[in-house]
Parts: sequence; C-alpha cells; structure tokens
Amino acid sequence: MEKFFEAVKPGSREARLAAEIDPARLPGHIAIIMDGNGRWAQRRRLPRVAGHRAGVRPVRETIEACAQLGIGWLTLFAFSVENWKRPRAEVETLWQLLRHYLKRELPGLKRNGVRFQVIGRIEVLPEEVQRDLDSAMVETSTNPGLRLTVALNYGGRSEIVDTVNAILERERRNGASCQPVTEEAFSASLYTAGMPDPDLLIRTSGEMRVSNFLLWQIAYSEIWVTEKLWPDFRRTDLLHAILDYQKRERRYGGLGEPEARGPEPAEELVAAGAGRIFGPAG
Ligand code: FPP
Repeated sequence: MEKFFEAVKPGSREARLAAEIDPARLPGHIAIIMDGNGRWAQRRRLPRVAGHRAGVRPVRETIEACAQLGIGWLTLFAFSVENWKRPRAEVETLWQLLRHYLKRELPGLKRNGVRFQVIGRIEVLPEEVQRDLDSAMVETSTNPGLRLTVALNYGGRSEIVDTVNAILERERRNGASCQPVTEEAFSASLYTAGMPDPDLLIRTSGEMRVSNFLLWQIAYSEIWVTEKLWPDFRRTDLLHAILDYQKRERRYGGLGEPEARGPEPAEELVAAGAGRIFGPAG
C-alpha cells in the first residue's frame, strides 16, 4: 500500500480513507461491472459514445490504484457477448477506444508492473484488435504486479458452455474415458483457469444484477453496488468498496466466527457434506 500513499496527497480524502484499510485483509481479486456510460452521456445530452470515452479515465485510475494498493487481480467487464446488439457505430467506437487505450496506456501499465490478459471469445474480434491485445499481453507478460484481466466478448453462460465443450473434446481425444468432473477440474478448464475467484464484485449505476459476468466464479464474492455511473467512479469509491468489504463476514456456507457457531460438527459429518444441516448457505 506504500505506493498508494506515495501517489496521493498527504491528508487528502484518499489518503485518509486508505489509512483505514487493513493491508493484511485486502481483497485478492476485485471484479468490476462498469455500467452507466450511456446514461452518463444521455444526462448531458451527448451521444452514448461520449460516455464510453469518459469511461476511460476511471479505467486508468482504478488500474493504477489497484496496482499501488497491492491488489493481486483486477478483472474488468468491458464488452459482453450481448453487446453486439448495439448499433454498429457504438460497437466500432468501443474497439477503437480499446485500441487507443492500449497504445496510450501501455507505458503506464509497464511502469506500474501490470500484467495484462483477456478472457472471452477473443478469436472472433476484429483482427487488428486481436493483434493489439496480443502485443499488450506479450509486452507485459513478465510484469510482476497486478494481474489485469479485461473481459471482451465475454458471457458467463458462454464460458460455461465453452468449458463443457472443451472438456468433452478432451475426453473424445482421450478415447472418452468419461471420468466424473470435479469442481476443481471444471474451474481449471474455465477461461479463468489459474485465477483466484473474485473476493469483491463492484457494480456501478445502481443495478442489482450480475449480468452474465463470471457466473461460476462469483459464487461467494461480496457484492458492492454504487449508484454512481461508471464515468464518475473515482479512487475514493474504490476505497469505500474495499473498506465495506473488510467489514463483511465471509462464511462460505459455514457459520463464521467460532462464537456464532456453537459446538463443532463432527469431522466425519463435515467430510460427508453434512455442513449444510447446520444452516443455510450464507
Ligand atoms: C457499460 O455502459 C459500459 C460498456 C459496455 C463499455 C465499457 C467500456 C469502457 C469503460 C471504455 C474502455 C474500456 C477499456 C477497458 C479501455 P453502458 O453503455 O451499458 O451504459 P448504460 O447502461 O447507461 O447504457
């Protein structure tokens, strides 16, 4: 977190909020549904694409702040499989913005030690976009800091279907041994293989939806929603989300702190999955 304190003005609101954060309990992985660009523009009687342009600043600020705070993983939902239904000009502007962003921000990503990667059905994106994504991934591949993942042409259901098909194809090539699939093996075949599940899911613009984002991976994520539209999202909002996350008790279906639990269930019952009889999933 020292890098964050070096980057902000001493005594500023950001510095004061960051001082309240427990560095030992930072979320390891933050995922963000960046929503509200269109409404931000509409409220200003501007074309929707002006909202996307204004959405680049909080992308940059959030990445930088996460890198400086020492967050391990950040995943941004930038384009869903459903977003192709938008007018062609808007879709094209989004690709242009992404290419422009990569070109302009690459030195900053490198300076901050950020390693860039993408998830989604990337192979159907325009070729020039794929080329730029590839070179950003190669150029940042040895960076030791924040692992930044941008979800592009991504859908949670498509990911699950792609994963099932990948497993079936592997089985077919291996002579269809049809071994039962475990949760661990399934996770290891998702687009996010090797990544930890998000601890904290942030959504802007006040909607209480997960919108087909990381459906498998957010099973136990803490969700934090702000009314602010994405172009208005600032470092202070990120800090508020982290502070709020640190106040939550994560139970993963168990009963949390020992004093709330009562007597321990017998080990053999837990091993048999009987933990459920001690309370609903939470
Ligand atoms: C949601 O707002 C936003 C998007 C679908 C695109 C997100 C893209 C950016 C923030 C710009 C560049 C991204 C990167 C990674 C450089 P919306 O259009 O759905 O807003 P609305 O719900 O108000 O219509």
